[in-house]
Amino acid sequence: MSNSSETLKTLTVAGLLCIVCSVIVAGIVVTLRPQQAKNAELDMKKNILQSAGLLSDGQDIDEAFKSIHSVVVNIETGEVVNDMNPENYDMVEANANPEMNVEIPSDKDYGGLSTRPKYANVYLEKDESGDTKTVILKLWSKGLWSTMYGFIALDTEATVKGFGYYAHGETPGLGGEVDNPKWKQQWVGKSIYDNTNEVAIKVAKGEAQGEYQVDGLSGATITSNGVTNSMKYWFSDHGYKKLLNRVAEGGL
Ligand SMILES: Cc1cc2nc3c(=O)[nH]c(=O)nc-3n(C[C@H](O)[C@H](O)[C@H](O)COP(=O)(O)O)c2cc1C
Repeated sequence: MSNSSETLKTLTVAGLLCIVCSVIVAGIVVTLRPQQAKNAELDMKKNILQSAGLLSDGQDIDEAFKSIHSVVVNIETGEVVNDMNPENYDMVEANANPEMNVEIPSDKDYGGLSTRPKYANVYLEKDESGDTKTVILKLWSKGLWSTMYGFIALDTEATVKGFGYYAHGETPGLGGEVDNPKWKQQWVGKSIYDNTNEVAIKVAKGEAQGEYQVDGLSGATITSNGVTNSMKYWFSDHGYKKLLNRVAEGGL
């Protein structure tokens, strides 16, 4: 057999092998896609439940999530938007769409976010008579290296029931201490607003002083300031304040 037909054979076999392998890989990707979507959804439900302390060890996530009522709320009015399906709406994705976001006026943009979505995903825990007990809200702000995304759970008086980030890229041991359970526990029982109805909750520089502060993260002032800024912005009147007033009045 000539050298050129040997080469042709080798190339044909290599080409066929490539095609077979790519078909197998594509098949696996397509087959696993629904499972990945389900896992991502379960993970988000877990973060929501954990932020409110509503998930015990070993508890089935879907089962526990039955106590949560998901709605979409117009942030400007604080009203539920009934014609938007919460399952098909993601406020983080919406924030990237100029038709679905609003600019944050520079004098209110404490976190340097530039825009926020018009509508929020809101999760409500209701009691047996249908009254809201807990409202769980998504918030984000910039740390040193990353945008930090979290959930905060509040009672109807805007007192924190739980707080935690589900995604960030801060340094483990420094800004990454936002995940430290002892630090997260400090938020519980603190009021967002002081008695003049201004956002008072914040991360201290150093040790917490007074009823509205939690300890600063040592060696991580930039991350700590990012957390404070997220509270200052998201609970301002350009953020969730109207929504929380509505919750307090029993209208959500
Ligand atoms: C490798 C490295 C990682 C760092 N990671 C963080 C971080 O995640 N968050 C943060 O606020 N500061 C981080 N810093 C420190 C900041 O650069 C800055 O010095 C610090 O925020 C100042 O805080 P301090 O006044 O509490 O020291 C890091 C520094 C280095 C060298």
